[in-house]
Amino acid sequence: MKKTYAIFVTLALLAGGSYVVRAGEAAKSAAELEKEKAMKEPFANDLGPDKLDVSGYSKEAQAGYKALQNRCTACHTASRPLNSQFVEADGKDSAARDAAAAKLLKEDPQLGKHKFVWQLEGGIWQRYVKRMMNKPGCTVTPADGKQIWAFLSQDSRKRKLGENKASWKAHREKLLADFKVKFPKRYEELYNEKH
Ligand code: HEC
Repeated sequence: MKKTYAIFVTLALLAGGSYVVRAGEAAKSAAELEKEKAMKEPFANDLGPDKLDVSGYSKEAQAGYKALQNRCTACHTASRPLNSQFVEADGKDSAARDAAAAKLLKEDPQLGKHKFVWQLEGGIWQRYVKRMMNKPGCTVTPADGKQIWAFLSQDSRKRKLGENKASWKAHREKLLADFKVKFPKRYEELYNEKH
């Protein structure tokens, strides 16, 4: 009787154990596929630096930068978000951010003319952080996500607009030119204005 019970428990543990392993494998392969996709399909962003001096940033943005370095680097390097053309306008809610973006575009039409240098929208970073968080294998928690969004949003205005506009344009144009040489087919796919 005791022996039968022991065999039953062993079988149950084995079955349970193998179920866990199988579930783990399935989760891993979805995450791995996502990573493979991220590596196979590069962006011009990837050719830029993967570090940034954030000592002059707000505490929240500094925490967001740290979380980005820890969590947004599972599938691609930090270069991908750090050298992105995405610029988010400031505002207390999404309607205010959309209005601020429209105002900026009206005041400075150059910002709307080079979409691979500046892609300015009210909630573009919020949307992209959410999009990345939905990917299998992404370990960004909602609290991290909020800080990462705050960092990317502030950083996009600091480094891409105002007095840094010209240096940002030169930086992005250099990345695009280097990318065209290195990945001509992918360049056509992503950055050909005619598409
Ligand atoms: C699970 C893998 C994975 C993780 C983790 C991940 N990404 Fe990505 N990322 C991708 C893939 C795949 C792409 C390719 C395009 C797409 O699917 O949107 C991408 C593309 C991007 C792009 C380029 C989008 C474009 O169209 O220009 C940015 C910016 C980006 N990721 C930022 C982030 C940020 C910020 C985080 C952390 C919050 C993050 N990623 C975490 C897989 C990941």
